[in-house]
Amino acid sequence: PEKIPCRVYRHAGEASKAVAAEIAELIRERQSQGRKAILGLATGSTPVGVYNELVRLHKEEGLSFRDVVTFNLDEYFPMQPDELQSYVRFMHENLFDHVDVLEENVHIPDGTLADADVEEYCRRYEAMIVDAGGIDVQLLGIGRTGHIGFNEPGSGRDSRTRMITLDKMTRRDAASDFFAEENVPRRAITMGVGTILEAKKVILMAFGEGKSSVVAKAVEGEVSAIVAASFLQTHPNAQFVLDDAAADALT
Ligand code: F6R
Repeated sequence: PEKIPCRVYRHAGEASKAVAAEIAELIRERQSQGRKAILGLATGSTPVGVYNELVRLHKEEGLSFRDVVTFNLDEYFPMQPDELQSYVRFMHENLFDHVDVLEENVHIPDGTLADADVEEYCRRYEAMIVDAGGIDVQLLGIGRTGHIGFNEPGSGRDSRTRMITLDKMTRRDAASDFFAEENVPRRAITMGVGTILEAKKVILMAFGEGKSSVVAKAVEGEVSAIVAASFLQTHPNAQFVLDDAAADALT
């Protein structure tokens, strides 16, 4: 039995359009109330279709991001913003450079800090989310380790924004982006499971057969730190948006 509602689409393209339409509706609703929409954003291959569609809605249908505030989940550490694999660069190339979001409303964990400054920085990142009014909708992908953000196995339900060590499998999956596994950073800064669970709504997207077994564990398995995404079973307003292939192992 499904413990998290799943919406299953034939293709990732359709799923991405549906998610983008939901985000656009939230932005417009907030705008009509004179309020800001607070978005929690993910990187990686999964949300690219959503960002493409949001850019199209901006260019062709007048969707404005002037009242949108964004918080990204994670960033490799160390990482300079102009490096090829930086999530700052990813977000600008895939979304921010093509819409009218204000630079001061964009937040992405800083991969350029000195080690000693990371803890205090993470506390401030959390405080900025709270000060903004909390995240209205958090977009997530899922790693083959079950990670959401970079909450690798062992991340507890109360974990907060912090420095983590990347799992071997995650570094292997990132190897092609870095041209070799040994070039993949060993650490990252990520929002915690507890941070993610405080979002008012959570949408986890997963596409392709490579994700089917971890999706089944997250949706139907035991709630445990072995699969961080399983904690979404305890969220009152979480849903998975899948293509047929990623839904294949669900009962
Ligand atoms: C990225 C992130 C990660 C990815 C996950 C899936 O900001 O937080 O959890 O969502 O690793 O990555 P893709 O979409 O590339 O399969």
